Amino acid sequence: MSTAGGAPREVLVVEPDAFAVTVATLIADAIRVAVAARGKCRIVLAGGRTPASVYRVLAADTTVPWAQVSAFIGDERCVPPDHAESNYRMINETLLSVVAMEEDRIFRLRGELGGAAAAAEYDAMLDVLAGAPKFDIVLSGVGADGHTASLFPGDPAVDSTTGWAMAAVAPAPFAISDRAGLTLRALNSTRLQVVLCTADDKKPVRRRILGDDTAAQALPAARVSGTERTVWVVDPD
Ligand code: 6PG
Repeated sequence: MSTAGGAPREVLVVEPDAFAVTVATLIADAIRVAVAARGKCRIVLAGGRTPASVYRVLAADTTVPWAQVSAFIGDERCVPPDHAESNYRMINETLLSVVAMEEDRIFRLRGELGGAAAAAEYDAMLDVLAGAPKFDIVLSGVGADGHTASLFPGDPAVDSTTGWAMAAVAPAPFAISDRAGLTLRALNSTRLQVVLCTADDKKPVRRRILGDDTAAQALPAARVSGTERTVWVVDPD
């Protein structure tokens, strides 16, 4: 199934116990390719729970040229960076602090400012970030409702064709409703899009999106892609 304007979806089916190593290897390889081609790699890291195991394995890979990597955050809950619900906290604890990434190559989405201010600050930073596409790798999660990052079904801002970052309101039952995150335009401004869609509660929406369900193609998670590759990593049916 092709995605609007992006590379057709590739589906990687992995057993749960192979998930972290498989995705970490995919990302590490893509980082090396980017650095070899352009001397640097810009990666957008996903929040939530799913990527944590991947980040831990990736952090242990000493062959990754971390000194040439810049890290961005796909979306953030509007809490302090040391809050239990902070995506940055999870990403920092599992990856960034472990590889000792220099502060000036970590572009944190400052959720503590509140959604609108955090989005405006991140949008301004991304707007002057040279290069098209802006990123080499975007890692995206999927919610059971078909959201990705802070792009929630029914939010008209999902369809915006301008801007790089936006404020959002996560619906119940999410604990933190005030959010900020990359726009669809930003998430798709990447060579490689890696979509992590594992766990049983995601299977219904995953089957709809990766199947021929026309309505599901309007869900935010169905609309992310890479200019060169769009890889969905799923567990067996
Ligand atoms: C967040 C994420 C969100 C996440 C999905 C999947 O802030 O929660 O950006 O989009 O990727 O909700 O979350 P899990 O990986 O926890 O299932």
